[in-house]
Amino acid sequence: MKFYIATDHAGYALKEFTKDIVRSLGHEIIDLGPDSADRVDYPDFAKKCANAVVEDKGSFGILICGTGIGISISANKIKGVRAALCHDAYTASMSRAHNNANILAFGERVVGRGVVESMIEAFCNTPFEGGRHLNRVNKIEDGCNFGANF
Ligand code: RB5
Repeated sequence: MKFYIATDHAGYALKEFTKDIVRSLGHEIIDLGPDSADRVDYPDFAKKCANAVVEDKGSFGILICGTGIGISISANKIKGVRAALCHDAYTASMSRAHNNANILAFGERVVGRGVVESMIEAFCNTPFEGGRHLNRVNKIEDGCNFGANF
């Protein structure tokens, strides 16, 4: 799998560790910044990663901020992105199986390194189940515009 990663200053300290985990599992990861722990705005880095994932079909992303909340909300504004804010291996696995998530988001102030490792393993090893879940994911892609009869 090919990953893009971006953080804000509050997620910066976990970035190198996260890259090492992804590489140790045999996957590629491209760092979109930031290059220091200086204060930045998470929407700017969410946008970089989200655009890369949409443009590079079949790729995935990892986004980290303090809580994972702001950076995942921001990424989900980009059409084609399904960024899942995860807290453990179960939510990371389900984000792939049921939601076909293409970005894994988490909070450096929320999860420890062991949890990060287990989330990445779960995310990488779980395929999208399709079936009834595909219809739901398609509705997300439609912007949840279901029409008057929904
Ligand atoms: C930065 O202080 C913090 O607000 C940010 O990293 C994130 O947690 C926002 O959702």
